[in-house]
Order: sequence, then structure tokens, then C-alpha cells
Amino acid sequence: MSDAYDLILARGTLCTPSGRVEADVGITGGRIAALGDLGAAPAATRLDCSGLHVLPGVIDTQVHFREPGIEHKEDIATGTAAAAMGGVTAVFEMPNTKPATVTAADLADKCRRAKDRAWVDMAFYVGATPDNAGDLAVLERLPGCAGIKLFMGSSTGTLLVADDSAIAAVLANGLRRVAIHAEDEERLRSRFTIVAGGADVGLHPAWRDVETAVNATRRVLALAEGVGRPVHILHVSTAEELDILKDHRDIATVEVTPQHLTLAAPGCYEALDAFAQMNPPIREARHRDALWQAVNNGLVDCIGSDHAPHTREEKKKPYPDSPSGMPGVQTLVPLILDHVAKGRLSLERLVDLTSAGPARIFGLAGRGRIALGYRADFTIVDLNAKRMITHRWIVSRCGWTPFDGLTVQGWPIATLIGGRIVMHEGQLIGPPAGEAIRFIGVG
Ligand code: DOR
Repeated sequence: MSDAYDLILARGTLCTPSGRVEADVGITGGRIAALGDLGAAPAATRLDCSGLHVLPGVIDTQVHFREPGIEHKEDIATGTAAAAMGGVTAVFEMPNTKPATVTAADLADKCRRAKDRAWVDMAFYVGATPDNAGDLAVLERLPGCAGIKLFMGSSTGTLLVADDSAIAAVLANGLRRVAIHAEDEERLRSRFTIVAGGADVGLHPAWRDVETAVNATRRVLALAEGVGRPVHILHVSTAEELDILKDHRDIATVEVTPQHLTLAAPGCYEALDAFAQMNPPIREARHRDALWQAVNNGLVDCIGSDHAPHTREEKKKPYPDSPSGMPGVQTLVPLILDHVAKGRLSLERLVDLTSAGPARIFGLAGRGRIALGYRADFTIVDLNAKRMITHRWIVSRCGWTPFDGLTVQGWPIATLIGGRIVMHEGQLIGPPAGEAIRFIGVG
């Protein structure tokens, strides 16, 4: 007799749209085939989840995996291994590689590279440029495309669309939500004198100040409203932007990062030097407090790690030559679970921010909740496990984390993707077989 299910997740606490439910999950053909008491139903494999919480697969909608061209920092294999180790089942990868992902050929190249090397499911952003604006409506509909990413201010790499007219041209071409790095290029340039020629990294948030972020967010919201195009404001870092964004909920969605929710200036720069340097910067505690308020009043739609690895040697260069960005895809789940343990958000809100939120914002097909017929992606966690985040645990090629030495409560025990157990108890189980993420009504 053939097995009723390929896999049964037995006796876990499922975090479903109806709340927490003690039940089994039956998985067949990579999808959720049954929820409930499956008793001794035959299954090829049975995973005992007693004492554990079964969350829908965590989706990280902002990572930089550096391939092609910058593989000494990371590649698709190492970046997705880090994701799977951290309980992340799907990632959206950023276009500031070398070459930047700005054409159909660049996108197809990344999709090819991911085949049989990605440990988790992937989609790739196409970068907007002043030159490819006219092609974006076609590019955003290609298989494997997460949407369009627009850098309003220079960060790592060369992608930049700084002027209102060029931004308007990008927003006018296409329908899908455009992901925005909102820092005002003109203000960045005019204030660079603050750090030019060498300075303390503690001045990073003074150079890339609150107004730099606020100006850009205000500008892009006005432009988006002008053409009726939805936008997604990445890594929001200021209390002032949140105050503006609350009045644009019809058009704008909001991302925050675990590091902006966890670290604060000036302490992070004193403790970590340029290892805490990212764009937009980690700022004073009043901004972190405002981000937490926005997590809890519903203004924040999702948490993205902005995993942006650089080598230790690069990070040790004197500021401002040190590059901006820090790894984060592997630490997202433990860090946010620790915030759950500390009472800063509920487990339900975590699921909303890391699964349901991404699905709603980007229109993911058949993902983002535990429901019959949905893809069998799960992040299985132990809410009571107390473990220490260390450099040694990090499998990202950069080999470090800003959270080294931090003991957290809550840990990813297993990562399941399309019904396959990809990580269990800190071991990757191969071969890597991540698939392209599909979007409703696209491709
Ligand atoms: O700090 C950052 N690093 N911010 C970005 O926008 C880019 C990223 C990177 O790619 O290093």
C-alpha cells in the first residue's frame, strides 16, 4: 500500500490564520494535504513536532547575495544556506550585483545560477536605471522576478535613480509594487563633507541624517500618488517617516529590519565600529522606539533582513571607506523570536510580518499561511530554547554577525520547503533544490 502522505508533521502547535492549533500536518506532492488529527495515518516520513511551534515558512524579502561578480562576500549557495540555517524558506534577492540585474538576460542568468544551488526558494529584483525605465513593465513580469528595486540614494554598487523625472518614469512603467531605497542623493552628496577624508563611524547617522531619509520618502510618495503606483519603502529608519507613511497606507507598504529594531546609536557604533554601519543608518533609541510602536500599531507590513554581507577586512577599513551593510538572513528568526520572548510582539504578529505580510504585499501564489493546498513551507521553532548567536554558527561566506555573543530565547529547529526537510537541528539536508517563487497574475 502506498503511503497516504509523503510527510506528517506530528503533534506540533500550528500557527494558523485561526490562531494556534494543536494538530498534525499531512504533506503530499509538496503541498499541505491535510490538517487535523491524522492519528497513525501512513506516511513515508514523520517528524515529531511535540513541544514545537510550526510557523508558515518565513519569507525574507530583502537580501543581497552578491552573485554574480562579488562572490568573495557571498554567493547564491552560501547565502541560501544561511537562510535555511536560520529558518528562512524563501528570499527576494537585490539587484546590486556585478553586473547589476537590469536586463532580461541578467535576470535569466541569476535564475540559472540558482537552479540546483539555492537551498531556499528565490525571486530576484530587477534594478531600475534611468536607461531601462521603458522596459520595466516587461521585465517585472518575467519568471523569477520579485519586482523592481529603485535606489534613490547611492549605496553599495552603482544603481541610482535620483531625479524626480527619472523616478516618475520608472513608476509610470509597470503595475507591480516598486521597492524603494529612500535616501535623498542630493542631500547625501551635500553632507558628505561631514565624513569626507575620515571620521568616526558614529557620524554615519549624522551624514545620512533623518532629513535625508524623510525627503526621499516624501518625494517618492508624492510621485507614486501622481501615477497611482504602489511602492514598498524598504528599511524605514526614522520616526518622522513613519509619521508620514501612516497617511499613505493606500499606496505604500513598510519594511523594517531586525537590526533597526534591535540596535541603537551611539552604543552600536561604540561596540561594533563599522560592523554596525549600514544604509540607512542605525539611529538613536527614539527611532527604534518608534519602529516598535509601528510594529505594534500595524503600520509595519513586513520584516526584511537587508542581509548585506561584506568581509571583515572590508569592514575594518577606516570609515567612510568601510562598506555599508551587515549580514542578517540567518539571524532574523532567532532575533525576532527573542523579541517575542521579551514581550515586544506576539508570535502571531511575527507570522504576520514574515509570512502573511510578504504574501499580501507582493501577491505570492500559494504561500504565507498554513492552509490546505498551500505550499508546504514551514519554519519550525522552539520558543523556549536559549542559545547563543555566534560567528561560528554563521554559514554566510562573510563569517560574522553583529549579534555574536547574544543569547536569545527562541530558535529555528527545522526549515521545510515544498515538503522537504532542508534544515534540521542545525544540519543542512541536501541536495539544494530551491525553486523560483511564483506571483499571482505574473509570468
Ligand atoms: O547598508 C546597505 N548595504 N544598504 C544598502 O542599501 C545596500 C547594502 C549592500 O548591498 O551592501
